Amino acid sequence: MKTQMKEIDEASLHEAAEYIRGGGLVAFPTETVYGLGANAQSDSAVKKIFEVKGRPQDNPLIVHIADFSKAGKYVKKIPEAAYRLAERFMPGAVTLVMEKSNTISDFVSCGLATVGIRVPSHIGAHRFLETVDLPIAAPSANTSKRPSPTQAKHVYDDLHGKIPLILDGGSCEIGIESTVIDVSGETPIILRPGYVTIDEIKSVVGKAVPAEENSPVRSPGMKYKHYAPKCQMTLVTGNLKDVCLRNYDEKCIVFAYEDTARKIRKEFEGKYKIVSLGENNKIASNRFYGMLRAYENDCDRILCECPKDDALRDSLLNRMMKAAGGNIV
Ligand code: TXA
Ligand code: MG
Repeated sequence: MKTQMKEIDEASLHEAAEYIRGGGLVAFPTETVYGLGANAQSDSAVKKIFEVKGRPQDNPLIVHIADFSKAGKYVKKIPEAAYRLAERFMPGAVTLVMEKSNTISDFVSCGLATVGIRVPSHIGAHRFLETVDLPIAAPSANTSKRPSPTQAKHVYDDLHGKIPLILDGGSCEIGIESTVIDVSGETPIILRPGYVTIDEIKSVVGKAVPAEENSPVRSPGMKYKHYAPKCQMTLVTGNLKDVCLRNYDEKCIVFAYEDTARKIRKEFEGKYKIVSLGENNKIASNRFYGMLRAYENDCDRILCECPKDDALRDSLLNRMMKAAGGNIV
């Protein structure tokens, strides 16, 4: 299958809608990461997502809709907390997990009684969802275990030959995934940390708790290896300069925040390539997946500085830990 990459206009949106209505897959941009979309009401279309990504069969998909006012069609009831969170954060980088109605394929939720609903703010995503006029099941548009795609080119690199169309909406503004919140019970549970922080969520609903570590039923996706670059990665929680002083017998590239990069560049420039994560976690979140993809073939190991201590620390640390696959010094 030839994979086309097209900018978003009337013609490409129309083509995308045709593919989706015919049971096919289309990749599309969102403000967080690119998604790999299919009609969430079609068992066979949803199954294709799992095949193309190589995704484990027990990891449920998020359903994307153009407007939260349509959510009632796809869930049994909308809890009060969901209305409040939607009012504050939608369209945007949150996913609300609620009791699923039978209008959504059971393959979307992998047999769970719930479904995650997200309303992306990206104008291209919005136009795509409006044009298709169907609920769209979409995970991140990467091959399973690879870093999430933040540019159309990343999707192409992973999935070319497997899907007909990638809608190119440029670089994703945020660069890490949505915060997944289970609002089906009494207290909202953060199933996956993301761009919207737990403190922001608490400010709206009063109480919210992170999911217990290793509670696979609640948050199936969190137990899998994720975001792994082709090279090794070591997450440096200690002093980056001390780690740089070591003599690795591998070719290493250093990812460091701008202030650290400035400090260590003079001393280590001959020894390592040093790439800046930017001034803060917002910029680092935006760059991180793209940096993994840009440098994974140029070295044996990435030495990555630990996130700064600001609001996005937990979310970015979650991604960096997974990319490092347990290599922490
Ligand atoms: O920003 C995002 O959320 C992106 C864009 C494309 O919307 N999507 C995304 O999807 O990151 P994915 O499939 O890569 O990650 C979805 C996460 C997984 O960890 C999955 O286990 C969890 O959400 N999830 C989805 N539905 C769930 C449900 N009903 N109950 C518990 N966890 C759920
Ligand atoms: Mg993903």
